Amino acid sequence: MRKPVTPTHLDPIRHEAWLNEEQVNRQMRELRASCPVSWYERAPYRPFWLVTRHADIKEVMGQNALFINEPRLVLVDTAVEEATEQAYGGRRYAVRTVLDMDGDEHRSYRELTRAWFMGPGVVKLQQRIDALVDRYIATMREAGGQIDFAQEVASQLPLRVILSILGLPESEAPFILRITQQLLSSADPELQRSREGGADVMPEVAAYFGQLLAQRRADPQDDLASVIANSLVGDEAIGALEAISYYLLVSTAGHETTAASIAGGMLAFIQNPEQLQKVQGKPALLRNGANEIVRWVSPIRHFMRTATEDYTLSGADIRAGDSLCVLLPSGNRDEAAFDAPDRFDIERPSEGHVGFGWGAHACLGRQVALAEIRTLFARLLPQLASVELAGTPRPIQSNFTGGYKSLPIRYRFRDA
Ligand code: HEM
Repeated sequence: MRKPVTPTHLDPIRHEAWLNEEQVNRQMRELRASCPVSWYERAPYRPFWLVTRHADIKEVMGQNALFINEPRLVLVDTAVEEATEQAYGGRRYAVRTVLDMDGDEHRSYRELTRAWFMGPGVVKLQQRIDALVDRYIATMREAGGQIDFAQEVASQLPLRVILSILGLPESEAPFILRITQQLLSSADPELQRSREGGADVMPEVAAYFGQLLAQRRADPQDDLASVIANSLVGDEAIGALEAISYYLLVSTAGHETTAASIAGGMLAFIQNPEQLQKVQGKPALLRNGANEIVRWVSPIRHFMRTATEDYTLSGADIRAGDSLCVLLPSGNRDEAAFDAPDRFDIERPSEGHVGFGWGAHACLGRQVALAEIRTLFARLLPQLASVELAGTPRPIQSNFTGGYKSLPIRYRFRDA
């Protein structure tokens, strides 16, 4: 049986590794070249296969019956896993989202919102995105030439878009921001912490979304919260737990990821002035370029799958029941899939990237995310005469969702 072990000097799984992007990219390159699928057995996690090549990631994520999402979707410390397993029968939280589901069940729950995400919902949302983008450009003007772009723009825009999607008032922004950070970024010691990997926030979250569910059932509005609240699964009304889980997923999945792409995109433009100039001359390049930004940033670092059968992947013999961790940023920097992958190139064909995942679970919100990224940069960049770093960017320390805690920039508007 072939079971190559992850070399000890390579560890893109440690949260701290993501504080040094150049180094982590070098490590992933070495893994792809010498040990593309390797057995990772280090505390504090239960062992798993680390999958680093673009083609292998697609092979795993594209076969949803062979590699299932439940029961192990993301890396969680063994101690936390054991505690929540006892409490929730093998799941991480009391909630169970469409991401945790497989097969027919997954298809039927995904179907409830697919039409909204792929069609009229996003078309209507564009107007709101336009207005919000103009608001944050105005914020930048008022700031007088220097701002923390990560905190004041990149994090704010997606949060407001999520509130609009769910039909929540802007006054709810602090609550949604807090639960998102507690549930997703709990590895970073500086961000608001949750001792139990987010499980301790759940009662509060369940009560909040339970109330939203009851309101939208009693009085449906023109929003996604109402679509979910009043949907049928088969012939039955959606269950309360499933609806609350959906709300939670939409709130968390769409915020930090898009914020990370916007902050990381701005940093990429600052570090690659020739790409900035291209977009300033032709903002339409962002129609494709928004995807290049997501490939470049790859805000989600990993997802997990569990093999249902024995399988051989790039020479490694995977056993039924083994876990696999697909390292999405590694796939997106794979030289076998992209020409000069370490070059940020707004004109490259990037559609095949795995930043939004691949296969049956591929991101439902990608049109929303791309619309936000495209609209912001297409409107903002042509107005700027100059933009540069005004301090050191501070990345989030996480092996799950990346991004920046701080991105201080200095800029001048052309008409200022
Ligand atoms: C740049 C921003 C984003 C990135 C990088 C991203 C990434 C991802 C990835 C990698 C998955 C696949 C997970 C898997 O296969 O197990 C996913 C699924 C999902 N995303 Fe996103 N996402 C982004 C924005 C959004 C937004 C804005 C929303 C909603 C408003 C959203 C909602 C969802 C949902 C509902 C799923 C679950 C789909 C399913 O399980 O069938 N995402 N996303």
